[in-house]
Amino acid sequence: MNNVKFMSGENIPLEMHKVRMVQKVNLIPVEDRLAAMQEAGFNTFLLQNRDVFMDMLTDSGVNAMSQNQYAAMMQADDSYAGSETFYRLEAVLKDIFGMEFFLPAHQGRACENIISQTLVKPGQVTVMNYHFTTTKAHITLNGGSVEEIVIDEGLKIKSDLPFKGDLDIDKLRESIKRNGKENIAFVRIEAGTNLIGGQPVSMGNMREVSKICRAEGIKLVYDASLLGDNLYFIKVRDAAYKDVAIKEITREIASLMDVVYFSARKLGSARGGGILCHDEELFLKMRELVPLYEGFLTYGGMSVREMEALAVGLQETMDFDVINQTPIIVEALCNELIKNGVPVVTPPGGLGCHVDAMEFCSHIPQAQYPAGALATSIYIASGVRCMERGTMSEQRNPDGTEPFAEMELARIAVPRRVFTLSQVKYTADRISWLHKNRDMIGGLKFVEEPKMLRFFFGRLAPIGDWPQKLAAKFREDFGDSL
Ligand code: F0G
Repeated sequence: MNNVKFMSGENIPLEMHKVRMVQKVNLIPVEDRLAAMQEAGFNTFLLQNRDVFMDMLTDSGVNAMSQNQYAAMMQADDSYAGSETFYRLEAVLKDIFGMEFFLPAHQGRACENIISQTLVKPGQVTVMNYHFTTTKAHITLNGGSVEEIVIDEGLKIKSDLPFKGDLDIDKLRESIKRNGKENIAFVRIEAGTNLIGGQPVSMGNMREVSKICRAEGIKLVYDASLLGDNLYFIKVRDAAYKDVAIKEITREIASLMDVVYFSARKLGSARGGGILCHDEELFLKMRELVPLYEGFLTYGGMSVREMEALAVGLQETMDFDVINQTPIIVEALCNELIKNGVPVVTPPGGLGCHVDAMEFCSHIPQAQYPAGALATSIYIASGVRCMERGTMSEQRNPDGTEPFAEMELARIAVPRRVFTLSQVKYTADRISWLHKNRDMIGGLKFVEEPKMLRFFFGRLAPIGDWPQKLAAKFREDFGDSL
């Protein structure tokens, strides 16, 4: 939803900021893109940025900061212990979330390490709408397992349900009954969801989950990394919250949770992370681990400058014209692709546009990583770097077998306030070209497969010479165009 309507009735995302500092980007010819992809082992994580035109790999640590964030960085108080900067950040967080205790950490997964080490005992289950890669890795490292209870509609690519990230209440009750509450380390809500299309969770659902957890004495953990997007969707998709202030919605969410943690590489458009909680005993337990893994309690691995930027970024997250910028661009990108027949996750969520590789590359078996192959092809066709979110992003089972992901997605992330509408249209144009030539895309296989989080730095090889043929077809169709 835009704040501004156009006379034509067109739904055009309007940027509510102006650009006052820029970074030049390079678009290298398709032959060079092919060579760069080969060099990178057909893994978009391993591309060098100098070869990337639009970096849409992630919205993590690459969001545009405001002038007020940069200004705040200049007044940071450098000190190992007792930094004024820390107390400023802590005050902002306590005010926004209304929670009593805060611990700093260097990024989101560091929070997951601390939370998992504190709450997960070997053999215990964690129950959540959906896992995130690093979350699951930390839980399993501590001997726990993950049970996913997102509503069935959440795993459907095409839907018009406004809150596809909701937890299934019947599945939650059934899980508690089956596992026994003492065997559940915690229930976790990820809002919005990452691996299933940036889909939001409704306030009503959070309220119900919280009620059940409180009645059973099970801790409820909220991953607020994508909170900005979720706040936007609560405001525009739930009529009851249309006129409720964003800060009030944030406080209501926090009041339902025992623990709130976040990656500040996303939330607050800075770099860092943090954990908030209401309970002093839990706070003291988690606090033990901060100096061990992160740094002293008044910085937790973050630079003081980032903490200042975060404090301002969090306050700016309470502004509708700030948090609406990613979702309206995501929606524009999705709509442009849908118009051209490209299958994407609907309704458009936060974080990015998610292209359905299972349908786009229906001829590629899951064992040959259709989403990885699509991400590779998108780079060759456009210089746009996106991310595989499918089977490659899953970890192998303890017995070495490979679980197939429920969704095979190429995620085209939309970092906050970074790209313009014409760049978005360029992206849609190239992906639409690729869709017309989708039969040319082939599969991939691992040639180097790391044991943990293999998608980050694993190397792959194409099955056949399809990347060369695809680049040649591009040259044929586009002539001397980049
Ligand atoms: N939780 C969610 C929902 C995330 O999206 C991420 C990171 C993390 C936790 C971990 O935070 O990166 O600061 O350690 N997501 C990034 C992405 C990596 O590209 O989606 P981190």
